Amino acid sequence: MDNKKPVVVGITGASGVVLAKSTIDRFLELDVPVILTASSASRIVWEKEMETSFGEELEKWSSSQNFKFHQIGELTAPIASGTFPTRGMVIIPASMSTVGALAQGLSDNLLRRAADVSFKEKRTVVVVPRETPLHAVHLRNLSDLAFMGATILPPNPAFYLFQKSVNDVVDFIVERVMVLFGVVSELPEGMQYKKDLFGDK
Ligand SMILES: Cc1cc2nc3c(=O)[nH]c(=O)nc-3n(C[C@H](O)[C@H](O)[C@H](O)COP(=O)(O)O)c2cc1C
Repeated sequence: MDNKKPVVVGITGASGVVLAKSTIDRFLELDVPVILTASSASRIVWEKEMETSFGEELEKWSSSQNFKFHQIGELTAPIASGTFPTRGMVIIPASMSTVGALAQGLSDNLLRRAADVSFKEKRTVVVVPRETPLHAVHLRNLSDLAFMGATILPPNPAFYLFQKSVNDVVDFIVERVMVLFGVVSELPEGMQYKKDLFGDK
């Protein structure tokens, strides 16, 4: 597998920024280069939901040669151009605001531009939306993104795996992202549906 092309990770200001932290940790663990950008709102949410600061994590990730960070306003970053090769982009978690912007083709910050580029270049785009309940426009926008080629991966628990903690759910979603980008071939055995779970061996 060509793990040397970077994956672009975009963090928006939806709840669930732990999903982004674990996704980046996992890509780096698998030796997959990551280019990160994060919206201003994501920093606010990070402060509220995480025990370590965004700056501390950034410092840890930056010790890897496989990691690069761009500020949200850096519209001259390589990921703003379709000529810069990437494997595609995961937006995790994805706010309804960013989902709406992407559905309209808005590129008014680096995260949105990098996503727009990934769409136009027909690369893998994974959107992990976090909002509940969803109103009709949220659903229409998500549907538009699906028609544009994105995989919509809501961070739902796999109830059939009897997951016991939020961490279990996070690990499951992160592993599904890895599969979608082809950096692992399949989910680990403990995360796969087992027929005998329901007694039908
Ligand atoms: C603590 C906190 C939690 C939030 N959770 C969500 C959420 O789960 N989903 C969502 O769509 N917006 C959520 N928001 C609102 C977004 O942060 C807001 O719409 C922001 O403008 C999104 O901008 P961005 O998409 O550029 O990150 C939350 C805001 C805060 C402060």
